[in-house]
Amino acid sequence: MIQNITVLGSGVMGHGIAQNYAFAGYMVHMYDLKEAYLTKALTLIDANLSLLIRENIITQEEKDSTLERITVTTDLVTATKNADFITEAVPEVLDIKHTLFKKLEEVTGKDTIIASNTSTFSVAQLAEKMENPNRLIITHFFNPAQIVPLVEIVKHDKTSDSVVDTAMNLMKAIGKSPVVLNKDVPGFIANRLQAALVREAFYLLDEGVADAESIDLALTDGPGFRWAFSGPFKTADYGGHDIWKSVVENLAPELSKAEIVPKFIKEKVENGKLGTKSGEGIYTYSNSVVEEKVTQRDENLIRLKQIKSRK
Ligand SMILES: NC(=O)c1ccc[n+]([C@@H]2O[C@H](COP(=O)([O-])OP(=O)(O)OC[C@H]3O[C@@H](n4cnc5c(N)ncnc54)[C@H](O)[C@@H]3O)[C@@H](O)[C@H]2O)c1
Repeated sequence: MIQNITVLGSGVMGHGIAQNYAFAGYMVHMYDLKEAYLTKALTLIDANLSLLIRENIITQEEKDSTLERITVTTDLVTATKNADFITEAVPEVLDIKHTLFKKLEEVTGKDTIIASNTSTFSVAQLAEKMENPNRLIITHFFNPAQIVPLVEIVKHDKTSDSVVDTAMNLMKAIGKSPVVLNKDVPGFIANRLQAALVREAFYLLDEGVADAESIDLALTDGPGFRWAFSGPFKTADYGGHDIWKSVVENLAPELSKAEIVPKFIKEKVENGKLGTKSGEGIYTYSNSVVEEKVTQRDENLIRLKQIKSRK
């Protein structure tokens, strides 16, 4: 039975993942390289929980008890001492993950499950240097991890069935919607779907079909508006497969088949226009606006989640 959970890395993803576990009642150890990172993570969790209070979703007592269940440390042995389940959310650098897994094999019992939050590596790649890869699995959360319900679970031929079951049950216990993949493919499901769409969006922009704002709006007030409730297959069922046959027949030859990064993104990166983190990307942002927009995004997502839970 899972009681103690360790989250390694307290950055963009790690702090939100730790919040999920602690809110669901698990004792959580959060580990990072520096105290300052952990302090920032706790501040963010505090703010996330306050937002849930403002939205009338949790009480002050629930916030306090959630925070009480989180302990932070910069010592890996302390962090993992009693861990039944570990979520790894360190940077997307294979060497860093390999080194960490090697250390984990030295300091944790053989039954401790190690779940990576990697976005791009396969379980097989992650397991390359492990002695006991049967306890390794991917549980891929979505940003903001404390709100978005999806968690993709990816196993490999060496992952034991009991590890898959435990990961699945844990994700359900923290209120997530786990999806298990039958194959270990790059990008899993959701990022592949998203990448296909982003490729087409940049193609339309490059071709001058419409401006960025119009393309964004066409999605958020069009397909995106209904996607929270009907995925592509339900949408196809509602529209009729005869219609979809024509749509694909007529449109497939017209769509981008680019295998390289769109010119637009390349130019932005070359000019240091990285988006909110540099103050300019496709749109322009000031620092205060970014914070405001992130809170606004989280508020909207929390409200959407509430509506979805009414189904
Ligand atoms: N950012 C996203 O939207 C997103 C979404 C899904 C998955 N992921 C994946 O989650 C993982 C973490 O991404 P992130 O965006 O949270 O990164 P991040 O850079 O925000 O956080 C990483 C944290 O790990 C810490 N760290 C570095 N080396 C460490 C080590 N050896 N041991 C412990 N901590 C260490 C860093 O100090 C930092 O706080 C990556 O594998 C990434 O691909 C990211």
